[in-house]
Amino acid sequence: MTTTTPPKPRRQNKTRTLRRLVEFQGIRKLPLLQYRNSVRKLYDGPAGAALALASLVSLHEPLIGRLLRNGGFRINERKSFLDVGSGAGQIMGHLLRMSSPDARLVSFDLSHPMLKRAEQRLKSDRPISVAGDLMRLPFADESFDFITCGWVIEHLPDPVPGLKEISRVLRPGGSVLILATENSLPGTVVSHTWKCRTYSRAELQSAFDAAGLPWGRQFWFTPVHRLLRIGGILVEATKPLA
Ligand SMILES: C[S@@+](CC[C@H](N)C(=O)[O-])C[C@H]1O[C@@H](n2cnc3c(N)ncnc32)[C@H](O)[C@@H]1O
Repeated sequence: MTTTTPPKPRRQNKTRTLRRLVEFQGIRKLPLLQYRNSVRKLYDGPAGAALALASLVSLHEPLIGRLLRNGGFRINERKSFLDVGSGAGQIMGHLLRMSSPDARLVSFDLSHPMLKRAEQRLKSDRPISVAGDLMRLPFADESFDFITCGWVIEHLPDPVPGLKEISRVLRPGGSVLILATENSLPGTVVSHTWKCRTYSRAELQSAFDAAGLPWGRQFWFTPVHRLLRIGGILVEATKPLA
């Protein structure tokens, strides 16, 4: 496990103000419903259609496969998986290959066309596709033992309700792997491309606390990603046993 020392509060405040000035502002300015509709339209359209290719070119898709294989997530032992904001199936494809053949797999996304694109790419009838909003997951309490949520919570102005939903549907002892855009220079560029916000590690950690998810192991795709502070915040939380 690798940890980072949180920046000092005054420096943190200055950085936060600067970041807020340069990153995409629409997420904070638009009413929630209007913003969510604009996100859905973005992914329904040509940008969403290009997502799979973008993930291959940026190496995001193979790198997440490497992380899932080597991160000690015990994927072959788990029985139920939820991939929140599954997009083009970049994470679900790996779960499909690594999980046991009788595991239950659910792809969940705001955008119907994205779910369709993932089905066409994965060419498998195993993952069930469910459309909806992360802020209200249509699943029973404690129904999954591994949840992935890659590059989605940056589409929530306030991450706490979404994280609480993830915590609610996660079984005690189960884990969630969250990947989120960090408040770095590349993260700011991403915020404009994908109309989202960014997070500092301290900010995301306090949202985890508020949602009752213990901030756990942090990962970097490679030592180069860690050195250059690129690749985003990759963090695991394991729900405590009751
Ligand atoms: C950048 S893509 C990430 C795709 C994939 N998880 C990955 O790791 O590359 C973000 C996805 O999250 C979905 N999304 C955005 N906001 C959402 C929300 N509130 N609820 C569910 N899905 C959402 C989008 O439709 C899109 O498919």
